[in-house]
Amino acid sequence: MQYRRFGKLDFMVSALGFGCMRLPTLGDQTRIDEPLAIQMIRHGIDNGINYVDTAYPYHGGNSERVLGQALLGGYRQKVKLATKLPVPQVKQYADFDRFLNEQLVRLQTDHIDFYLLHGLSRRTWEFARDLGVIGWAEGAMRDGRIGHLGFSFHDDNSAFKYIVDGYDNWALSQVQYNYVDQTYQAGTEGVHYAASKGLAVVVMEPLMGGNLARPADEVKAVFDRAQRKRTAADWALQWVWNQPEITLALSGMSTMRHVEENLASADRSGGNTLADDDLEFIEAARKVHAALVVVHCTECRYCMPCPNGLDIPLNFQWLNRAVGLRQMFHSRYAYRNAHAASQLASACIACRECEEKCPQHIPISDWMPIVDNVLGKGADYDPKMAPVGNGGSI
Ligand SMILES: NC(=O)c1ccc[n+]([C@@H]2O[C@H](COP(=O)([O-])OP(=O)(O)OC[C@H]3O[C@@H](n4cnc5c(N)ncnc54)[C@H](OP(=O)(O)O)[C@@H]3O)[C@@H](O)[C@H]2O)c1
Repeated sequence: MQYRRFGKLDFMVSALGFGCMRLPTLGDQTRIDEPLAIQMIRHGIDNGINYVDTAYPYHGGNSERVLGQALLGGYRQKVKLATKLPVPQVKQYADFDRFLNEQLVRLQTDHIDFYLLHGLSRRTWEFARDLGVIGWAEGAMRDGRIGHLGFSFHDDNSAFKYIVDGYDNWALSQVQYNYVDQTYQAGTEGVHYAASKGLAVVVMEPLMGGNLARPADEVKAVFDRAQRKRTAADWALQWVWNQPEITLALSGMSTMRHVEENLASADRSGGNTLADDDLEFIEAARKVHAALVVVHCTECRYCMPCPNGLDIPLNFQWLNRAVGLRQMFHSRYAYRNAHAASQLASACIACRECEEKCPQHIPISDWMPIVDNVLGKGADYDPKMAPVGNGGSI
């Protein structure tokens, strides 16, 4: 196992962390295959993993409970344990203590090493901050229930910087980051920003939730041309670890084979170790991914500002991820939890002001009801829905 310094803390963390959101299940997502999950987690720890990540809602609450069992028998002392305050479920100040105390019981421990505010957006950060979460967390750090405070994140880059700057003592930020998401959410810019401020940068979704491990045939063909043979998962993980600003990559491993393979990948990892031609293949793969998108919006933002407040490129980004990259669940979640309803496709009044400014000539006003139907109302996407002359979409 390779180890890296954890931001400004005096702690060397394994390059691979165990994400407990995708444990093996028995059909239903809430029914974890407990003996196998425990075996996998302990196998990871026995082979050098010293950071495990879970959260209150994973597997319907059972992830924390099963992880607590896996960490019995001396395993708790071998790892730093991260879990998260379910900010969207918080209604009042008393909920902070209520959730943390319940989590300590589920996890069978007296302290959480890294406690994260879960899935922050600008809106949920402002809500938690104004409710007093920082003062409360500092109290929990003083009484020993929490070691350090951090946050995980799902919003745009400006919101990321706003949150990083919103508190002086974040120990870590957890971001969605992989070779496709270089300009999505926090993106490379956010990763560099957080690292420059001394925050550990913990990567979630390094395989885009598994999508990069099962690439489209067109992407696979790019990697097949490389002389160095790697699995698609290894290409994606090495890209993350190649960046010295990254502290560790969490992977949600669902089988023992995933654990074995990702441990072996982590053994080979290192900052700035990929050859130039490796990076060229990854860039070529990223471009092929990009070519699979539905609407050829390049996010130049020439169309903005929308007089009605829509974030047009963001709506296209969600649709492209949903359809082209088969990220329907995530995209619908993002759409339905956007921090302002006015941002959404449903708010389009078809004034067509944006269309005059779009260099790709995308009929934006015709697309917006489609975006809302697919992401907001749950309709299946059918390529026949695409308007004529839609900026080169498939
Ligand atoms: N705080 C947040 O908002 C948030 C959000 C997301 C994630 N997280 C945390 O971050 C962790 C990592 O994110 P993630 O689970 O999305 O990670 P990921 O590594 O991007 O995706 C995990 C999935 O990738 C596939 N996979 C993993 N290793 C593989 C291998 N060697 N070969 C082939 N396929 C492989 C599996 O999918 P299949 O089984 O489908 O093949 C697995 O379920 C989560 O587990 C969770 O702890 C936090």
